[in-house]
Amino acid sequence: MKRAQFASSFGVIAVTVGSAVGLGNIWRFPYEAGSNGGGAFLLLNVLFVFLIGVPVVAAEFVIGRYTGLSVRSAFKKLAPGEAWNLIGYTGLAGAILILGFYSVVAGWTMEYIFESLRGFGGVESVEGLHGRFDAFASDTWKPLLWTLLFLSANFIVLIRGVAGGIEKASNFLMPLLFLILLAFAINSFTLDKASEGLKFLFHPDLSKLTGTSVLDAMGQAFFSLSVGMGCLITYASYFKRDTPLVKTSVITASLDTFVAILSGIIIFPAVFTFGQEPAAGPKLVFEVLPSIFCHMTGGMIWSTLFFILLFVASLTSTLSICEVSIAYMVDELNMKRTKAVIITILIGIALASLCSLSFGPLSDIRIAGRNIFDMFDFAASNVLLPIGGMLVSIYVGFKMDRMIVKSELLKGEKSAAMRGFVRFIIFSLRWICPGAIGLVFLFGLGIF
Ligand code: TRP
Repeated sequence: MKRAQFASSFGVIAVTVGSAVGLGNIWRFPYEAGSNGGGAFLLLNVLFVFLIGVPVVAAEFVIGRYTGLSVRSAFKKLAPGEAWNLIGYTGLAGAILILGFYSVVAGWTMEYIFESLRGFGGVESVEGLHGRFDAFASDTWKPLLWTLLFLSANFIVLIRGVAGGIEKASNFLMPLLFLILLAFAINSFTLDKASEGLKFLFHPDLSKLTGTSVLDAMGQAFFSLSVGMGCLITYASYFKRDTPLVKTSVITASLDTFVAILSGIIIFPAVFTFGQEPAAGPKLVFEVLPSIFCHMTGGMIWSTLFFILLFVASLTSTLSICEVSIAYMVDELNMKRTKAVIITILIGIALASLCSLSFGPLSDIRIAGRNIFDMFDFAASNVLLPIGGMLVSIYVGFKMDRMIVKSELLKGEKSAAMRGFVRFIIFSLRWICPGAIGLVFLFGLGIF
């Protein structure tokens, strides 16, 4: 059977940006920036995105487009029997684990769309909303049901195929996401203490940085760009032969960063205007923000829109995560797409249920002090992604035929700037990425 292909160049950008833009930008970035001094964190993040992130994105694209295969099959073809094949498995395992915990948070965003419509039951204080969130997340059935619904939404899109499902959905959802973001950002400028919030986000106070924040910023860049588990290898296997890889990497990274910045522009002015703490951590979005919305004119409309935004961003990201597993089953096990989608979603449901219950009935199960949800996050984000990213950069930087790498990177690339950038990409893959990723890895394991 002929391999599926994305139909248009707009579609290619919509799906890749759709994968990159997700909870990582709108939920994680603001709380990481908030806890790490704001502007200084943003500056570091941007540096890492372009110095290290873009080269690894381009490297995954090269592997995927050149082989026309998903992560496991690609390495089987490129380096049969060699250790590089490990990435086939770390990628697959990473995808399934991320799908597990990510779907739970995505399920929460669905509940919060309705919470907003209910006006949070009249509760307005951060403490009250904290109690409300806790009661919800530790409930057995409610979060489970939402997670199930969220995965069903994935199923409905994925079953329609690559171009007819993922691409079509992204072509519609991504512009919608940008529209909502824009409306929010404009509203943000009208808030009383907008300038204070913007100063916090854009004025880099380097004295606020610690070793931890440097490494956090790098980890954030990787997670946010969707690199390290073959997600982009899989997507690139559906690219056309003349899709420009460098340009696509740069546009994806730029839009991904732009959304993270917009999220900051949405959240920090509100946090300062309503006298809240920017360093509230992961609960910033589910407890602090709702309290702020309660005090804003038209707040419940904004709140509903905000959680719709989070839901849309999560959906286009999990589509790409599921596709890693679907394409594996189709390429490697010769399975029909329909069957592969069903099995992937069922695995997702099983793991996501464990993660969801780990805030309630299963909260006593702890591995190294972490509940199941945190364990999945840790194993995927801190262990499997860095290993995958490092292997990809070393493989494409040193091992893959130089002529092939160059010709893939230069294909369809018309502008002189992008063509010139290719040399930097290869340099970074060899001499910057492996070392930098290695540092994040050791740090993530707590060795450093
Ligand atoms: N990048 C997405 C986000 O920011 C999450 C994601 C999708 C991801 N695919 C991935 C993270 C692959 C790591 C690897 O929310």
